[in-house]
Amino acid sequence: MTRRKFLNQVAVGVAAATANTVARSAESKEEKGEVPLIVSTWPFGKASNDEALKILLGGGSLLDAVEKGIWVTESSGNGSVGLSGSPNAAGVVQLDACIMNGPDHKAGSVAGLEGIRHPISAARRVMEKTRHVLLVGEGARMFALEEGLESVELNSKERYEKWQKQRASQRAKPAEKKPDNHDTIALLVLGKDGNIAGGCSTSGLGGKLPGRVGDSPIIGSGLYVDNEVGAAGATGLGENVMRYCASFLIVEFMRQGMTPHEACVQAIRRVMRTEPKGTNLSINFVALDKQGRYGAAGTDGGFQYSVTTPGGSRVLPNPGIGTPER
Ligand code: GLY
Repeated sequence: MTRRKFLNQVAVGVAAATANTVARSAESKEEKGEVPLIVSTWPFGKASNDEALKILLGGGSLLDAVEKGIWVTESSGNGSVGLSGSPNAAGVVQLDACIMNGPDHKAGSVAGLEGIRHPISAARRVMEKTRHVLLVGEGARMFALEEGLESVELNSKERYEKWQKQRASQRAKPAEKKPDNHDTIALLVLGKDGNIAGGCSTSGLGGKLPGRVGDSPIIGSGLYVDNEVGAAGATGLGENVMRYCASFLIVEFMRQGMTPHEACVQAIRRVMRTEPKGTNLSINFVALDKQGRYGAAGTDGGFQYSVTTPGGSRVLPNPGIGTPER
């Protein structure tokens, strides 16, 4: 099957359920002015979207919307984002985050950050207050403290024991992995002025080796924003995202004319081309474009994503990736 045929098949078949949604979203923007548009990963992203929208409608900047929106999930007790996230194999919570601003194409990231309540704020400070893009580990923590960001004790014995119990039950029932126990918030914002920004925050893979960094703070992997085109963000197994610079790839596919949904599908299929694991990759993406269209696709059946405009917020199902090309 040719690539074009596959795309047609995706558009007509598997994505039929969401095609109307995508079409409606594009129409909404033109006919009803449905911007700002905010798209994020997972149902827990909805509360972050709502906060981001509130910030924007109150006159805040795109970056304020991204930062304060992500604060909501970082503070929510989520099992994989922020201070309540999963510890690494040594029982230590190490947080990763990044932020990217479309208009000036600036970015900031932190990785392996310990004891800071809002890693997304540390990432923003890296972007705005240093000449660097990525700070890691103790250097990132010292920088965050110097910036006056709130520090907290993440690594209590009680928290570690709770996580060990959670991990044991997850291992016993891997098929029952719940979306709310899983992974990363990536949040993308298209403003009324057509500018775009995004952010990403996670505690990363539970039980990871100390010092492991996933896709989330890596610009182009866990997040990418191009103000001329659109933005994309990832959730899932970082190793399977970062080896392909998948968010960058999605944005480049949109630049070539694909819709956000088609671009997410094609990025997954590009990864699958060289992966022997088939669809067992745990990679999931959200994307939006400059026209106000949005989409998503993932290899996790339970993946869902959240979309917010002034008209309301919705949690949408994973549209899937279509029938594998033969
Ligand atoms: N996507 C988050 C991680 O793998 O760390």
